[in-house]
Amino acid sequence: MSTGVYDEKGAAYAEHAARNPWNDLYDRPAVLSLAGDVAGKRVLDVGCAAGHLSGLLAARGASVVGIDNSAVLVEIARSLWPASFVCADLAEPLEFPDASFDVVTASLVLHYLPDWTSPLAELRRVLVPGGVLVVSVHHPCEDWRWFDLPNYFATSLVTDRWTVAGEEMEVQYYHRPLSAVFSSLREAGFRVDDVVEPMPVPECAEVNPQAYESLTTKPRFLYFRAVA
Ligand SMILES: C[S@@+](CC[C@H](N)C(=O)[O-])C[C@H]1O[C@@H](n2cnc3c(N)ncnc32)[C@H](O)[C@@H]1O
Repeated sequence: MSTGVYDEKGAAYAEHAARNPWNDLYDRPAVLSLAGDVAGKRVLDVGCAAGHLSGLLAARGASVVGIDNSAVLVEIARSLWPASFVCADLAEPLEFPDASFDVVTASLVLHYLPDWTSPLAELRRVLVPGGVLVVSVHHPCEDWRWFDLPNYFATSLVTDRWTVAGEEMEVQYYHRPLSAVFSSLREAGFRVDDVVEPMPVPECAEVNPQAYESLTTKPRFLYFRAVA
C-alpha cells in the first residue's frame, strides 16, 4: 500500500514523533533497551521516519543507516542526525550486502506491510549470523479492541486517524494476530528470544499523565527481540 501520507504530512509527523509520549517515552526507550549495547555496532534502522531512533542509536556509538520509503522524512532525517539515510521500500530487495549489520531495528513499521515474507528474509540476509532484530508493532489486542474487528485471527487492513502537530493524518496498516507475527519471524530464520509489553518511562507520568495511565493499563505496542 502507499504510505504517501508520510510524504504529505512529513514535517508535521516529524514534529509529532520528536516529542509525543508514545514514541518518545514508550516506543524508543523500549527498542533501545532490547537492542542492548550498540556501541561500535552497525545498525540498520528500518522505517526510520525523521530518524529520532536512528539519532539515539548514533548517540550510543552505533554506526547507523536509516531507511524509509518517505523521501520527505528521509530528507528531514538527513538534516537532523549524524547517520546515513536512504529512501527505500522495505517491500523491495535491500541494496545492502549480506551480513552487513549487527543489529536491525524496525520500530512501528512492519504493520504497514501486507506480507512480511520477503521483507523479513531481507532483514535476515543483511544481518550477521547471531545478529539481533528488534521489532515493535501495534499490539494485536489493541487493534482488535480499538477497531472492534470482527475477526481477531484474520490479517486485516485498518484505517486510523491521528492528529499530528495540529494536522489530521489518516494512515492504513495491517492488524495481524500474535501467532502470525511469531510464525513470520520463525519462518524467516529468526529465533524469538524476548517478547515485551513495556511500561512507559517514569517521566511520562509527569509529562502526560493521561498517556501514562493508558500505557500502564492497556496494551498499546508489542516488542520482539529475535536472533538471526
Ligand atoms: C510510525 S512511523 C515509524 C516511527 C519511527 N520508527 C520513529 O522512531 O520515529 C512509520 C514509518 O514507516 C515508514 N514506512 C511505511 N511503509 C514502509 C515501507 N514499505 N518501506 C519503508 N518504510 C515504510 C513510513 O514512511 C513512516 O516513516
